[in-house]
Amino acid sequence: MKSYSYINRAIIFFKTIAAGTPFLAFILLSAFLKPQSEETLQSAAPFPIGAAVNPFLLQTDSAYRRVVETEFNSITSENVLKWAAVHPAENKFDFSKGDTLAEFALSHHIRFHGHNLCWYQYNPKWLSSFKGDSAAWERLFKTHIQTVVSHYKGKVASWDVVNEAFHNDGTLRSEKNTPDNKPDDGCIWARNLGIDYIARAFQYAHEADPDALLFYNDYDQEIYPGKLRSIINMVNYFKKRGVPINGIGIQMHINILTPKDGITNAIKQLANTGLKIHIAELDISVNPRNDPNIIYSDSLQNLQSSLFAFVVQQYKLLVPKEQQYGITTWNVGDADSWIRPTYKKKDWPLLFDDSYAKKPVYYAFINALKN
Ligand code: XIL
Repeated sequence: MKSYSYINRAIIFFKTIAAGTPFLAFILLSAFLKPQSEETLQSAAPFPIGAAVNPFLLQTDSAYRRVVETEFNSITSENVLKWAAVHPAENKFDFSKGDTLAEFALSHHIRFHGHNLCWYQYNPKWLSSFKGDSAAWERLFKTHIQTVVSHYKGKVASWDVVNEAFHNDGTLRSEKNTPDNKPDDGCIWARNLGIDYIARAFQYAHEADPDALLFYNDYDQEIYPGKLRSIINMVNYFKKRGVPINGIGIQMHINILTPKDGITNAIKQLANTGLKIHIAELDISVNPRNDPNIIYSDSLQNLQSSLFAFVVQQYKLLVPKEQQYGITTWNVGDADSWIRPTYKKKDWPLLFDDSYAKKPVYYAFINALKN
């Protein structure tokens, strides 16, 4: 279809020249040289391409919506299915915003990846004051997972069941005073349910929707070998025990200084588990040192482009086809990226700019998807 239209246009162009109509020939030449307008990330990629989506922006910002509609064939719920959003009081679930995403995905025939069922962060206030014995905690945990998964049965294709269970040094998040030295860095689930809560989360989710694919998701696996090792050990142990795990999410929040060999190593080793591999939250910061005077120069954009292309190339090279669950960027454009408000810095980490126009890095990314 693509080459047919190129050849056709070339034939018409030369025929027109021969007929001596230079103006028409000029118009046709511009059409010939213009990039194919129908080409999008999703049509260029051999696997699904996703974005973390915010339902409010989807409903209120037409440029945002147009990019999501045309470029992506998978969406991930950015925040609306996290505990604090979906379970605002002990006996109350709020599915309204998640339902907006589910309806969008269904009506556009694209994949909906649910994020997430259990995390040490983004938990509601009421949870930290919840009092109960271990049976009550277990009931609470199981009820949450099964209520949310059942609600989206047949609508959500896959879940990040457990998010970020390990510290960077590879120990499990559970203690109050942690190696990362942040007060909230422990994990309420490990503390109240015991360290095998991760396996039980997968079991509970699987009972509620046996067709959903279940993922473990974490960050900086490309930087910290101890963390990568712990995740691989856990996954292999789960496979041996028959815990229903189908995939691993490599978040891939990286920056222009991230060593390439770490990226290669993480993708290769995680793919060796035989599970599906989702590059689940890709973005590339160009301002890792938080320079307040930084300018998004051509040289920064070139570095960023080559790293975006590198991630795609390594994914295609090292992950066998049947394990390629796809690549998802965390947010849609620089304007809605979580990096700016979270780290309070200037940055341009995504493929689309502040007005949702394609950036030069977009073309580097799409070319890597195609080649
Ligand atoms: C982030 C959201 O993008 C922010 O809007 C929110 O304030 C905090 O969480 N790893 C994850 C995601 O797994 O859930 C995080 O999302 C980004 C880091």
